[in-house]
Amino acid sequence: MAPRRGLFITLEGGEGVGKSTQQGLLLKRLRQEGVKALGSREPGATALGVELRAVLMDLGGEAPCQEAELLLYLADRAQHVRQVLLPALEGGAVVVCDRFADSSEVYQGRVRGMGWRRVRELNRWVCGDLWPDLTLVLDLDPDLGLRRVHQRQGDLGLSPDRLESEGLAFHLAVRQGFLEQAVAEPARIKVVPAARPPERVAQEVWGLVAPLVRAWQQARG
Ligand code: TMP
Repeated sequence: MAPRRGLFITLEGGEGVGKSTQQGLLLKRLRQEGVKALGSREPGATALGVELRAVLMDLGGEAPCQEAELLLYLADRAQHVRQVLLPALEGGAVVVCDRFADSSEVYQGRVRGMGWRRVRELNRWVCGDLWPDLTLVLDLDPDLGLRRVHQRQGDLGLSPDRLESEGLAFHLAVRQGFLEQAVAEPARIKVVPAARPPERVAQEVWGLVAPLVRAWQQARG
């Protein structure tokens, strides 16, 4: 791997848990600290990714087979890693990404039933040596998360996308899947309860991120 000088932080969780709000607040805080910080997301951070996201979110009622769905997310990731993430990290930025490899391990691996270990192997192939330094799972009762999503979509005059329309059992399994990811890798993955006001969640997020940023700054001299 090319020398990686930046820090890679990912935000994960089910629908409507507040990932993009927390991403915005964390980027603001990092910039206040004088850190070069970049936000990104999956799927859809590159031109190819935008096309793949549109395909994945609305298939005109046709459900993709599990293998096809997984490969589309992995194609998005392969392009994202090489075109956006590695250059930013090699340039010394702190990158905060809304969803990454854990989403495939949970949604396709654990929930759709392809097996998270198999998805991990494919993730390793797609990501090379790039892996998050820290992953924050925002944890929320899916009932509440889905209500937030439906409210937001309604306000925008949109209907829920293909995944948001899955039943409650699917979203409960997603929540459980992320909690199991965290148990399997406690050093990297931290769970943050998200049923609180955004500023309060952001405080806890910063409490987890700040020591890592300080250690990273010290190591860089
Ligand atoms: P979101 O980014 O707006 O949350 O929507 C992305 C959707 O795609 C969300 O339902 C989770 C799903 N997803 C997967 O199933 N696998 C993946 O690898 C990724 C990145 C997202």
